[in-house]
Amino acid sequence: MRYIGGKGLLLENINNVISAEIPNVSLVLDLFAGSGVVSSNFKSKGYRTISNDFLYFSYVMSRSVIALNRKPTFKTLGITDPIKYLNKLTISDTDFQTDECFIYNNYSPVGECNRMYFQPENALKIDIIRLTIEKWHTEQLIDDNEYFYLLSSLISAVPFVSNITGVYAAYLKFWDERTYKKLELTEPVIINNGKKNESYNKDFTELLSMKCDLLYADPPYNSREYLPNYHILETIAKYDYPIIYGVTGMRTYGNQKSVFCKKNTVASAFETMIRDCQSRYILISYNNEALLSTDELSDICRRYAVDNSFKLFEYDYRRYKNKISNNKKGLKEQLYLLRRH
Ligand SMILES: C[S@@+](CC[C@H](N)C(=O)[O-])C[C@H]1O[C@@H](n2cnc3c(N)ncnc32)[C@H](O)[C@@H]1O
Repeated sequence: MRYIGGKGLLLENINNVISAEIPNVSLVLDLFAGSGVVSSNFKSKGYRTISNDFLYFSYVMSRSVIALNRKPTFKTLGITDPIKYLNKLTISDTDFQTDECFIYNNYSPVGECNRMYFQPENALKIDIIRLTIEKWHTEQLIDDNEYFYLLSSLISAVPFVSNITGVYAAYLKFWDERTYKKLELTEPVIINNGKKNESYNKDFTELLSMKCDLLYADPPYNSREYLPNYHILETIAKYDYPIIYGVTGMRTYGNQKSVFCKKNTVASAFETMIRDCQSRYILISYNNEALLSTDELSDICRRYAVDNSFKLFEYDYRRYKNKISNNKKGLKEQLYLLRRH
């Protein structure tokens, strides 16, 4: 999934720093997992991986791809290939009514609604699949592992038919080609690393007491909140019929406004994280044009690093984003490393 601030292109640098600088890594906590690409990388390296994010749709994806080591069996359900079954499902195969189809009624141009996030057929398909997964779970035909496996397959499929340029903060005013494709679920790719990996959906402060070898922290770096940019994925994941407002049909915030997105709270957020964390090492992803300056973040790191262990690694943004043209000549991706315990 394309994700704001996603670190897919920085994995090699992250891996190099870990193998060169941190001895005996076994348990890693990815505190702000987002798309899960870094957690997946840790998992495939053989580390026992714990991932977390306060967005529920991010948790849903990690709860399947990170926490599971094999595809669930769907024994009780008695359908050999539930993904294939869901792909073929139509509303007439079910008892659902269009009134209860939240995405169809609010994010596709039907009835009073003029939002153009999805073609009506795909919106309806999202609803029918989501409602069916919920029904199977409520009726105990699928267990939690099977539930999150199917939900994560749905969440991953949605961006491929969405009428957006990458995020859900706006929809296009004409139908993009991709919206004419049929929504198609695919099997989540599950790696078995033989470890007891876990996923959480908590505020970062709630996991700081976890004793691990490495805390990898990639918090937001500017004032752009994540929820408005992914609100529809969050609503599909929760399917909680939220109150929505405005042109984009944004859901209201729960506790998902980030202290890392505000100038007056970002320094104390970093300080809390670094001071209270029980991990041996901390590796922070940030950049030199973020809300907190390089000097400010370096000062906090230095204050809490044991044995002068603080190190800063910088990577040229143009090389890191080599496929994307940009004018940000001085922008550098950064990795802040320190030993805490
Ligand atoms: C820069 S993104 C992480 C990107 C991720 N490393 C990747 O490669 O996809 C920051 C993430 O932090 C999450 N976040 C922000 N504030 C948080 C908080 N207080 N507790 C937990 N997660 C938070 C956001 O939801 C977002 O997914």
